Amino acid sequence: MEWYVKNPDWWGDVSGALVPHPRMLMMSGMGKSSSDVGSIDTSSVSNNSGPMRMVNPGSKNIHDAQKSSLKFLIYGRTGWIGGLLGRICDKQGIAYNYGNGRLQDRAQLLADIQNVKPTHVLNAAGVTGRPNVDWCESHKPETTITNVVGTLTLADVCREHGLLMMNFATGCIFEYDAGHPIGSGIGFKEEDKPNFTGSFYSKTKAMVEELLKEYDNVCTLRVRMPISSDLNSPRNFIAKIAKYDKVVNIPNSMTVLDELLPISIEMAKRNCKGIWNFTNPGVISHNEILEMYRDNIDPKFKWANFTLEEQAKIIVAPRSNNEMDASKLKKEFPELLSIRESLIKYVFKPNKKNLTAGTAI
Ligand SMILES: NC(=O)c1ccc[n+]([C@@H]2O[C@H](COP(=O)([O-])OP(=O)(O)OC[C@H]3O[C@@H](n4cnc5c(N)ncnc54)[C@H](OP(=O)(O)O)[C@@H]3O)[C@@H](O)[C@H]2O)c1
Repeated sequence: MEWYVKNPDWWGDVSGALVPHPRMLMMSGMGKSSSDVGSIDTSSVSNNSGPMRMVNPGSKNIHDAQKSSLKFLIYGRTGWIGGLLGRICDKQGIAYNYGNGRLQDRAQLLADIQNVKPTHVLNAAGVTGRPNVDWCESHKPETTITNVVGTLTLADVCREHGLLMMNFATGCIFEYDAGHPIGSGIGFKEEDKPNFTGSFYSKTKAMVEELLKEYDNVCTLRVRMPISSDLNSPRNFIAKIAKYDKVVNIPNSMTVLDELLPISIEMAKRNCKGIWNFTNPGVISHNEILEMYRDNIDPKFKWANFTLEEQAKIIVAPRSNNEMDASKLKKEFPELLSIRESLIKYVFKPNKKNLTAGTAI
């Protein structure tokens, strides 16, 4: 007995046995923090989780070992979400490579997998249209080849190699209907069938989601109206609506990337599969966001509203407006903030600090 007390190292790292749920050892970004405006705070998943602090310093070895055993292959190097995912991996010390292949080219995807030997594949590649999804209306084959043929090919190649594919998909495949009326708080659930195919972009995404359901190696993340703390990004929903001459005013479910992308990394580590509404709980309207923008960023900011009918005259394809039920994600990540709380914490507070300090955003 005395010998064991004098030689505590003999036991090695047994900290895992002290943790109420071993999954906690896998949580990302422990002890890191970043409040950079425009960068993703990779500590967000773990920092809100009180019991995490019970893990003793010895667990660092297990955490590092898990990190070093991960290798992500990410598609979407030049894209907004793909770029952010790489930055999160850099911050968390997770090894990754961007895929060089085009999604629809099976041989190129196979070469990527053989070269990189990933543990997980993250797909943030897709045709979204420039300057917006209206582009897809006049480029249907080009949209289909990536969003349907390409996404399915990647899922299939991953399945062949026993790899999980985290697919950054969209929730813009639903619109308010009689069963989910606007303002009712009744959101679309993971098992609901898409009911919005008003735009060709959404149509491709709805079709591919239906087909991907049959792949048990796929995790579908339904992203909506993504927002990040980088208010300079033209892809950011806030930056977009702040620039429009007129905006509609409809409550919607949205995704704060600074909070949710680190969660997607954690979901990859947990090997989450199936469909997930990947939005913050609750809804927020265009006007509510612009009011927050005015109150926190630009006191002189003004905007004008118009109706859906008026909006229809200046866009080619209809847009989806909906509420998603985020309770499945909230159950898996109880620390997940409501859309309003998340916007304040991740977008408006950090940017407001800069504004007060005199930094232009
Ligand atoms: N941003 C949004 O509002 C939003 C909302 C909900 C869901 N999503 C979904 O999230 C995903 C990522 O969105 P994002 O905003 O980051 O898109 P993004 O900025 O438009 O980037 C798309 C990326 O996909 C790549 N790509 C396109 N076709 C490809 C192909 N055939 N093979 C390989 N790569 C290809 C592009 O690379 P190249 O430049 O080389 O073509 C680019 O890196 C998309 O599937 C999108 O539908 C986005």
